[in-house]
Amino acid sequence: MNEKKNNVCNFIIFGIKGDLSKRKILPSLYYLEKKNNIHDNTCIIGISRSNWDKINYINMIKKSLNIFLKEKINKKIWIKFISRFKFCNLNVYYSNNFIKLKKILNFKNRISINYCAMPSNTIPAICKGLGKEKINKKSSFIVIEKPIGSSLKTYNYINNKILKYFNESQIYRIDHYLGKETIINLLAFRFSNILFLKNWSNQIIDSIQITVSEEIGIEGRIEYFNKTGQIKDMIQNHLLQILTIITMEVPIKLNINSIKEEKIKIINSLRRFNFNNINKNVVLGQYTNNNINGVNIPSYLEEIGLNKNSNTETFVSIRADIDNLRWAGVPFYLRSGKRLKKKLSEIVIYFKTLPINLFNKFNKKIPQNKLIIRLQPNEGIEIKILNKLIGLNYKYELKLTKLNFNFYKKNNNEYKTDAYEFLISELMKGDKSFFVSYNELEESWKWVDSIVNSCNIVKKKPILYKSGTWGPEESDILLKKDGRKWNK
Ligand code: BG6
Repeated sequence: MNEKKNNVCNFIIFGIKGDLSKRKILPSLYYLEKKNNIHDNTCIIGISRSNWDKINYINMIKKSLNIFLKEKINKKIWIKFISRFKFCNLNVYYSNNFIKLKKILNFKNRISINYCAMPSNTIPAICKGLGKEKINKKSSFIVIEKPIGSSLKTYNYINNKILKYFNESQIYRIDHYLGKETIINLLAFRFSNILFLKNWSNQIIDSIQITVSEEIGIEGRIEYFNKTGQIKDMIQNHLLQILTIITMEVPIKLNINSIKEEKIKIINSLRRFNFNNINKNVVLGQYTNNNINGVNIPSYLEEIGLNKNSNTETFVSIRADIDNLRWAGVPFYLRSGKRLKKKLSEIVIYFKTLPINLFNKFNKKIPQNKLIIRLQPNEGIEIKILNKLIGLNYKYELKLTKLNFNFYKKNNNEYKTDAYEFLISELMKGDKSFFVSYNELEESWKWVDSIVNSCNIVKKKPILYKSGTWGPEESDILLKKDGRKWNK
């Protein structure tokens, strides 16, 4: 295998004190350190606008690692890790401040990765500051997080601001789902097995469900989430990525451009929503309080602060349609929410039943074949196939039996590489294969705008659901109307 080596970097984290940095970026960097995956001369530079000294920052990093690592901090790794850090107090809105950053950077024989771990409306200011101090040269890259903007208009605005200082080739757009083993495996699963490659269309597939559910609520991200909501936090990016990978045509090659072209065709073919079809196809929800196993779970409104009113959705389910020859007539049911019954990401593919079945007269109802791709937890693939019941009393009575494959051994504490760890390592190698292109996001905003704008036109409000359930009953009705049920 032709594995690229990690470059020597200035790894600059804008927003080092923020939730994303504490929860994901810092732990991932620590694990990369543990695996000797960071070049010895790489420097990590933490930026925030507070008036902190080095000790404050170091304490904060240690505290975050203690909370978010899946193991105890190892003293030897910690010493090497923390010795890489430099810090800079800087307000990104004052481009004059960026001189402070320039002064502590060494540019010789290294690339600079400018990781914006801050809300996307700060990106233009960050780019301007970097541009002012010429930290935007060819060997400098900018990394931005989803959701970029809050509509097609704001996405384009931010993008145009970035393009004033960086070329498209210098921009890395992260969607951490693209760094998950099981998502990368979707490509292998679909395009290396003739068994599925040839059976992947409306000829034999009846419907597809994609569920990404979480038990947690908004984890203190009040301002961010209340402005964003579940559609823009999850559907616009993670669920659309899964949907496109599961439905796109075979790319010519396994590189970012070929894959991107196929994904864009799918997003282009997604039927748009309007005031006529929105209520029939989209359900919004918001969680209320509940007592689960003796623990009081607050409602969304309580979490964002008593007395506040909000129509932000914490749950969404959608029936989507792809109007192309391969998928015409196959409904795609997407569902994602906070404070649901379980943390789970899965794709369930239901196959059609045979038009004429020799076994009909021995069985009241013959169930559909089902393929379940479990993205998390219990990563794996499960196929439900029909077999006859065994025993003297049975001749041709059928039952669904399960063929199951687990990615990881059960009950084994095998370490699973986190998606961020993988993507940060790719950033350090300068490989863009697992990042999102400009056009893909442009197209996905068009589709998402059609949902959000239609909801606004019909004044659609979220329906309340109890924490710890599968969302509002209307989400079940969405499928029931089509004679279907969510996979249980
Ligand atoms: C993030 C969202 O992108 O993904 C969060 O902003 C969500 O709201 C998280 O909790 C879920 O990621 P994962 O990897 O835990 O499924």
